Amino acid sequence: MRNNLKIGLISLLLLTSVSLRTTAQDQYKHETAEQKSKRMAWWTDARFGMFIHWGLYALPARHEWVKNHERMTNEQYQKYFEEFNPDLYNPKEWARMAKEAGMKYVVLTAKHHEGFCNFDSKFTDYKSTNTPFGRDIVREYVDAFRAEGLKVGFYYSLIDWHHPDYTIDRNHPQRQESDSAYARVNKGRDMAKYREYLKNQVRELLTNYGEISVMWFDFSFPGKNGKGRDDWGSEDLLKMVRTLQPGIIIDDRLDLKDKDYGWDFESPEQYKVDKWPEYNGQKVYWETCQTFSGSWGYYRDETSWKSPAQLLELLIESVSKGGNLLLNVGPTGRGVFDYRAQDRLKAMGEWMKYNNRSIYGCTEAPAEFVAPDNTLLTYNPKTKRLYIHLLSYPMGNLKMKNMADKIKYVQFLHDASEILYRKGSGGEAQTVNFQLPILKPPVEIPVLEVILK
Ligand code: GLC
Repeated sequence: MRNNLKIGLISLLLLTSVSLRTTAQDQYKHETAEQKSKRMAWWTDARFGMFIHWGLYALPARHEWVKNHERMTNEQYQKYFEEFNPDLYNPKEWARMAKEAGMKYVVLTAKHHEGFCNFDSKFTDYKSTNTPFGRDIVREYVDAFRAEGLKVGFYYSLIDWHHPDYTIDRNHPQRQESDSAYARVNKGRDMAKYREYLKNQVRELLTNYGEISVMWFDFSFPGKNGKGRDDWGSEDLLKMVRTLQPGIIIDDRLDLKDKDYGWDFESPEQYKVDKWPEYNGQKVYWETCQTFSGSWGYYRDETSWKSPAQLLELLIESVSKGGNLLLNVGPTGRGVFDYRAQDRLKAMGEWMKYNNRSIYGCTEAPAEFVAPDNTLLTYNPKTKRLYIHLLSYPMGNLKMKNMADKIKYVQFLHDASEILYRKGSGGEAQTVNFQLPILKPPVEIPVLEVILK
């Protein structure tokens, strides 16, 4: 009887301690909307980040998917590993350019689909420290960007075209035509081992490099000859990530879209959304990732570079619909930003220097404000200022409805010069007519700052 009581008490104690531990570890599953908005606050304020795609594919310089597109084997791809020596790599310079462009955070490919690791992982030999270059790229990157005050993140490819246990699937360079062919090539490959490898590497990344603010997993493609949550061990992985870095922000490509806690933001890729994206009827956090020219890795012969005006419009438009822009640079095999990327970053920085108040801390304007033609609106809810971005410069005046009683003062944002305005009369009593100079100011996209009552 006494013994039974003891056993009972001990098991009760054990049970509570186990359940307490589970609750602590599972806290992320019960985060409230308010807690999430606090965790996301630096990110929604920042609005503008830099994506960096860099790996062995910088050498072929014809798309980061080159191994796949040309169906190369590991042996055929090996020459890029052997020649990898980006002697001009100076992440301090990268960080300076990102900062001057107005970017507030950065995400670097720690590993892309090719499987090559830009960091000194204990779990593979296929890493930058074993190339002629011999350096831990991630370490230097983290230090340099942090020193410039940017929040640092990692992209990590779930897909791996190099690992011997990663099974051949429909996105693999060695993809097959039939089920029997798949069975043949996958004999001896063990996804359980790959799952362990992937988890170990993510643990390294989130343990050895200090505070990491963003984790960008890429990507799931469930279905026949595809891969999804069970292949990656997504639930387990997510739990580890949230435990190691409780403040981290995670994208939506782990194939856990049906779980509230399974992702933090939507990631429309190379796609300009036409309204604030929703999921299950709710507006979501979102970030569009975009390239300057089409491919993510350095592509020498690509000529489809977006103009500074298009890029600025992309940024403004994202903010005007409540989202972020993650703009990608694909450094060359020497370790520098392509001159065209440098040009664009400089142009964006020039604009941001004078106009960033319409970006940082801003979001979609309240529905009562209707954007006049050829303009985009953003709004800062804290300062109660409305920003009108003039995409095509109007001839001398700009009318806006439903405004007359709301305005305290109006100025150009870039030089704080007053903009006079007239109120309408009769049926147009609530319309105002902003009196603009005939000459477009020397600003790529001029902005009116409306200080509201
Ligand atoms: C895609 C591509 C990849 C790129 C990524 C960025 O999923 O596979 O090359 O890294 O998008 O969003």
